[in-house]
Amino acid sequence: MAASAPGKLILFGEHAVVFGEPALATAINLRAEVFARPHAEWRADGGSLDEPRFRYVKAAVEKAKSKGPLWLEVRSMVPSGVGLGSSAAVTVATLGALHGMIGPIDPKTIAREAFEVEHDVQGRASPIDTSAASAGGGVLVLPNPSAGLLWTIERDSRRWYLHRADLPPLDFVIGSTGISAATGPLVATVKERVDRDPRAREAVREIGRITLDGLQALRRRDFARAGQLMDRNHALLTQLGVGHPMLDRLVAAARRTSYGAKLTGAGGGGSMVALSDRPEGTVASIRAAGGKAFVVRSDPAGVTTLG
Ligand code: PMV
Repeated sequence: MAASAPGKLILFGEHAVVFGEPALATAINLRAEVFARPHAEWRADGGSLDEPRFRYVKAAVEKAKSKGPLWLEVRSMVPSGVGLGSSAAVTVATLGALHGMIGPIDPKTIAREAFEVEHDVQGRASPIDTSAASAGGGVLVLPNPSAGLLWTIERDSRRWYLHRADLPPLDFVIGSTGISAATGPLVATVKERVDRDPRAREAVREIGRITLDGLQALRRRDFARAGQLMDRNHALLTQLGVGHPMLDRLVAAARRTSYGAKLTGAGGGGSMVALSDRPEGTVASIRAAGGKAFVVRSDPAGVTTLG
């Protein structure tokens, strides 16, 4: 049995989502695949499940209460540590393979279990990555249920409503700064600002409005408007303290050949995304500015078994 699941890209709303604002993500065509077959003992890529690199795989095995033992093989095209949801893709693909050994897979069950796995391993998580990897396509997080509800994820006193967001097929250019920054302290920085500064609170609310406007603009293929909203979202995230000079540099370079650009994910380094109809030109501009760059496409397929 094998299963595959996509990485993700946050288009609008990161950080603001922590305060109950909407966020929009899309699954991307970089995927993780996990193969599982019965074996005399538990193995992952021939090694022990206790190796740190398999901590999501091991936690997924425990969450799925898989009897095993199984030999697992993990292949991922999703680069890790750049905010593209590599751990979620591996977690969801692992759960897909384990559930697929017993019967048909249910993306909602997998999304819930994968969120728990990420939460257990990372100590903190929003369900965006794991739900995008499970559902595929566009995913909108809202503080209340609305049309297109996929599922609800709950943890402690928090509740997220995951919705289907119908987006047209889109190409995005990713620029990676090569600077890694942990998400937790960045989330804490924003919280501290929001607690003491009303302007930061207003910035968070404006990001929420931008997310909904951005979704509408992308839906009607008004890329000029979507790009403007990305630019504004980037400025607001920078105001909230999660920017970085290298991000500004890559964003500025990308904007010369695109509709708009912003940081994506937690920020503080990490990656940026640009919306461009000349992706090769945008890739070249980002590389010339010192970043790594590549093109990704939205992927409508969520977790799928491969037979
Ligand atoms: O680094 P990523 O791609 O997992 O994005 C983090 C997104 C935040 O909104 C900053 C945090 C969260 O848990 O939603």
